[in-house]
Amino acid sequence: MKLAILISGRGSNMDAILTAIRKGHMPQAQPVLVLSNLPEAGGLTIAREKFGLNTEVLVSNDLKGWEYDKNVMTLLQNYEISPTNGLICLAGFMRLLSPQFVSLFRNRIINIHPSLLPSFPGLHAQRKALEYGVKISGCTVHFVDKGLDTGPIIIQKSTPVLQSDTEESLSGRILRDEHLVYPEAIKLITEDRLKISGRMVLINGEH
Ligand code: GRF
Repeated sequence: MKLAILISGRGSNMDAILTAIRKGHMPQAQPVLVLSNLPEAGGLTIAREKFGLNTEVLVSNDLKGWEYDKNVMTLLQNYEISPTNGLICLAGFMRLLSPQFVSLFRNRIINIHPSLLPSFPGLHAQRKALEYGVKISGCTVHFVDKGLDTGPIIIQKSTPVLQSDTEESLSGRILRDEHLVYPEAIKLITEDRLKISGRMVLINGEH
C-alpha cells in the first residue's frame, strides 16, 4: 500500500510513522510522498533528510475545497497513488478536505486528532479539554469522512489530565501516545484487518 503523508507543520507524527516503517513494523506500507500546504513545514526537511523521501509543496493560494484538492489528486496520480493502492495519512494537515476528494478516496484517508472524539473536534483540542475540566483526554485515529473529525474511529488511547497540566504539558503527553497509535492504525489497515460497519470499525483478530 502506497502512503502519502500530508502535513502542515513539524511532522512528529510523520516521523513516528516513517520510523515504524523503517523498523519493519509495517512491511506492507510503502511511503511514497510527503506533501505540505506550507513550504515552511519542518516535517518536509525530516522527510527528505532523515528518510530520503520525496516531498512536495502545494500552497493554498486562496484555492478553496475541490479547487485545491484536485491539484492534490493530480500530484498523487503523478506518484501513482490511487484510491485502490493508496492510503492518505493526515498528520497535522491544516486543511479540511473537500467532499469530492473524500468520496474519491473513500475509506482511504485517515487522520489523527489530539482528543477522545467526539469530544473536542477541530482546533485547540487540548486547550478545550483543559478548559472543560475533563479528567481524561487522549487521541483518536479515525477514517476521514465529509465532516470535521467525525469519521469512524479506528483506535483511541486515553491520557489522564493532571491538575497541574498546562496546554503544553498535556499536548506533550498526548503527542507521545499519538506516536504509538498512528503507526498501529496504519499497520492494521495495511494488513487488511479492518472492516467498517456503519460507524463501527471492526478489528479482525481482536477479542
Ligand atoms: C498533532 O497533535 C495531531 O494530533 C494534530 O496536529 C498535530 C500535528 O503534530 N492533528 P505533528 O506535526 O505531527 O508534530
